[in-house]
Amino acid sequence: MCGIVGYIGYEQAGPFLLDGLQTLEYRGYDSAGICLNDGSELIVKKAKGKVGDLRKLTDDGKNTKGTVGIGHTRWATHGEPSDVNAHPHLSESGRFAVVHNGIIENYQQLKDNLTAKGIVFRSMTDTEVIAQLIEYYYKGDLIDTIIKVLEKLEGSYALGVISQDDPDEIIAVRKESPLIIGIGENENYIASDVTAILSKTRKIYRLENNEIAIIRRDGIRIIDTDKDELHKEIETVEWDVSAAEKGGYEHFMFKEIMEQPEAVAKTISPRLKNGRVVLDEIHLNAEQLRKFTKINILACGSAYHVGVVAKYIFEKMLRIPVEVDLASEFRYRDPIINDRVLTVVISQSGETADTKEAMKEAQRRGSHVISIVNVVGSAIAVESDDVIYTWAGPEIAVATTKAYSTQLAVIYLMALYFADMLGTIVPDEYKALIGELESLPERITKILENKERIQYLASKFFNSRDVFFIGRNIDYALSLEGSLKLKEISYIHSEAYAAGELKHGTISLIEKGTPVIALATHEELIGKIVSNIEEVKTRGADVIVIACDTHPELANIGQAIFIPKSCDMLLPSLAVIPLQLFAYYVSSLKGCDIDKPRNLAKSVTVE
Ligand code: AGP
Repeated sequence: MCGIVGYIGYEQAGPFLLDGLQTLEYRGYDSAGICLNDGSELIVKKAKGKVGDLRKLTDDGKNTKGTVGIGHTRWATHGEPSDVNAHPHLSESGRFAVVHNGIIENYQQLKDNLTAKGIVFRSMTDTEVIAQLIEYYYKGDLIDTIIKVLEKLEGSYALGVISQDDPDEIIAVRKESPLIIGIGENENYIASDVTAILSKTRKIYRLENNEIAIIRRDGIRIIDTDKDELHKEIETVEWDVSAAEKGGYEHFMFKEIMEQPEAVAKTISPRLKNGRVVLDEIHLNAEQLRKFTKINILACGSAYHVGVVAKYIFEKMLRIPVEVDLASEFRYRDPIINDRVLTVVISQSGETADTKEAMKEAQRRGSHVISIVNVVGSAIAVESDDVIYTWAGPEIAVATTKAYSTQLAVIYLMALYFADMLGTIVPDEYKALIGELESLPERITKILENKERIQYLASKFFNSRDVFFIGRNIDYALSLEGSLKLKEISYIHSEAYAAGELKHGTISLIEKGTPVIALATHEELIGKIVSNIEEVKTRGADVIVIACDTHPELANIGQAIFIPKSCDMLLPSLAVIPLQLFAYYVSSLKGCDIDKPRNLAKSVTVE
């Protein structure tokens, strides 16, 4: 995923572009660049490295003149991170500049065709092909040219284009990758997401697929590829700027861990009315719900881990078979999907390419799709049949925390809502679970107040080479997330294992001092997990136990982290907090770049 920003107005564009790129750096940060039209030509300043390096190169955007410009932060897909592969990319003569987020799947064939015509490419990127095509087809009208070029492109793109000949317009195009138009006073903006322009305006147009914006200082026109004028509603962004800032915390990740009680409360409370779960976002009645013979959950990464938790909860409460698929696998296994399968798609960004394409595959096969998404107006949210938004607010850290927790909260709401519709829950249990749900935020707060204990344990393990997470049933689902959190931000190898499975091979890896984090919250299986803990302890493991405070005896078999007792369904939301904090503190002690871990991006918009 990459970040795009653009400015057209009467001020110098450079400083705004750099500030905008800084807020987008979480989207991609292996190289960055800007291009301005100084009134006679297009000037490009770009380099491998972080936005801070670009600030030095451009003196914070001040050493390049121009009141119209575009900027880009890159997460490499085609061509390694380098100065020449950084965006913006110029056409051969330098008359056109392009920034791009997405992937042009047929770029090589297009590049070969242009090379055969004598056009010389500078970079290894797919994006440069767009700039060269614009120049190749340009006959004097930039809009007509861009429409013609779009017909050639296959894949996904959010584009910002400026030309040397016309310093009074920016052209923006969207297909799959998100792009918004910010509406200012005698100045306007483009950006990959609102955080880049919040300092200037809250009024935006959110481009949909195949829409083209022609942005000038005094106005914005939006057309389709037939050049028909489109009349879009202006959206007002409610976020305050601080919500997109660190709020005094050292890292976005820690801020977002601490925001979880509020995020979960914001997600749950609007959907609890008079003691009942209200999910008007779902357009299915009881009769339609009953026709489903299976629920299929599609997601990636941590969102997939939410799906694994959901399987245990949905199957127990709804008595419907549930399959959970890695979206990247689902697409290519010729899945058995039809209109009797309800598909649930989970995605924080709503732009993850694997998840988006898997959703389309399920829809092509007739399935009704409910998406659980955090970013309003994102592709998955727009293209699913129903969308339930998580109200986590902007999640900036690459490693998800509050979005994961709010996704879990939506799963609980759906489970109760559907169980009530299907009649698979008795009124007393329904009422009791609603009460538990309402008290979830304060229980999370209580765990966060005990974070020093987790920090202490992290200090004992941060030099580990391999860490194992084990659990049974819903604790196993949670161990997947604990392991990923640790891996992705501390770079320590880790594995999650169903505790009952260890003895079938992997236990051979346990030796003296091997850290094993055992999740022991599931009441019915406490005896089993205690046996598994004893198994690894006798082989030398150093065990941390995460358990409910109703089992103080577990402090005798491992270094215990206790969480407040709750009903089984809600325990994942409580037990995940110590796992997030453990990963955070270990990574902090190792001096890793917690918010922007190496090799990762916040949303993977390429396959
Ligand atoms: C989680 O910490 C990771 N950043 C990653 O696994 C993420 O959950 C995954 O890429 C899915 O992203 P999405 O929720 O935006 O679709």
